[in-house]
Amino acid sequence: MLIVVINVIIVYMTNLNAVTDKALHYLPIPICWFDKNLNFLGTNKKFLQLFLLSENQIIGEHISKYFDSYNFMSFMGNFVKDTELSAEYQHSILIERKLVHFKFSLQQITNPDRIILLSAEDITPLIEKNQEIFSLKEKALQSSRMAILGEMTSGIAHEINSPVAVIISHADQIKLRLKRKEHLTDENLDTLRRIERIIKTSYRIEKIVRSIKMISRDGAHDPFQNTLISDLINESIELCSEKLKNNKINLIIDEIEPGLFLDCRPAQISQILLNLIGNSNDAIAQSDEKWIRIQVKDAGDCVRFSLIDSGKGIPAEIATSITESFFTTKEVGSGTGLGLSISKKIVDSHFGQLYIDKDCPNTKFIFDIPKGLSAVI
Ligand SMILES: Nc1ncnc2c1ncn2[C@@H]1O[C@H](COP(=O)(O)OP(=O)(O)OP(=O)(O)O)[C@@H](O)[C@H]1O
Ligand SMILES: [Mg+2]
Repeated sequence: MLIVVINVIIVYMTNLNAVTDKALHYLPIPICWFDKNLNFLGTNKKFLQLFLLSENQIIGEHISKYFDSYNFMSFMGNFVKDTELSAEYQHSILIERKLVHFKFSLQQITNPDRIILLSAEDITPLIEKNQEIFSLKEKALQSSRMAILGEMTSGIAHEINSPVAVIISHADQIKLRLKRKEHLTDENLDTLRRIERIIKTSYRIEKIVRSIKMISRDGAHDPFQNTLISDLINESIELCSEKLKNNKINLIIDEIEPGLFLDCRPAQISQILLNLIGNSNDAIAQSDEKWIRIQVKDAGDCVRFSLIDSGKGIPAEIATSITESFFTTKEVGSGTGLGLSISKKIVDSHFGQLYIDKDCPNTKFIFDIPKGLSAVI
């Protein structure tokens, strides 16, 4: 279309010089023309509108006064020197703080004098579309890289955790043997302390590896099971009750409606509960008032899990960051900052929501899991 219009313009400019200005003035394509030294001879209305110029301003002026890009000016300069009759050039210009992408077309008209005709086609939508396609491709590539990384991590996690389990088992044996001794020398006590350190650190390695394994997979292929909530809660707290007892934290479980079932991936829901309980434990372990309360309620469309602790809430300045991976306020070595991001990922994969109840005077995390997921998944 543009080519046809340009050819028509050339015919006009070559043959009908007197009426050319008027005829070209209302063309919908921005055009302007120069003499052989690149001084403006004329423009149409569209060109002036587009580049926010007035006719009086530019006639007789050199193009470099308004188009000062080095590359663009080199292209124009070379075109004038060469014997080429036409050329195209893609160039982007900032107009009213927006980058507009143009395809400039140049034509030489040599009858009677040498005139250079420049037309500009706004190709911004095309360029933006291409950029969008490029970024979608990048995203697809990125998620396939993540999938490969997930598979690799899973394999590596297994390779790491098996020898770690062997270390823990041997260290436990040594610890037991030492503890069985009637009199422990200072050296024995020192060995015992070191062994306990080895065991603690090994458990930490296991935990980090498990967390990384968890976060790098989406768990989307685990089957959904119709799960009795009271069983799920009891099995979950089994895994942390010892730690809570040691810290003298009172765990209260409000009565759960008998026969309340939920379609879910039970191991994952259990993982969320353990992460939340672990966080509460860390937050209140040194407080005077120490309790954690778990409530599970049938909330109509979903089952609502609430976990409240005796803390005084999450400070507003960190509340929006706590579900980000690796965000932690814990000392180096005691928190990886993965617990809540993993929990959020699991809740998302159950089409639910995880949030803080800001109206509660204590720290209260809630996660809602919709009912009937087996029927839709
Ligand atoms: N119950 C809570 N009370 C106070 N702060 C909390 C509570 N739960 C989470 N937080 C804050 O949110 C941060 C992020 O929690 P998250 O569970 O993601 O990581 P973490 O507990 O620091 O480390 P990890 O869980 O990997 O061992 C915590 O470091 C803490 O600052
Ligand atoms: Mg945590």
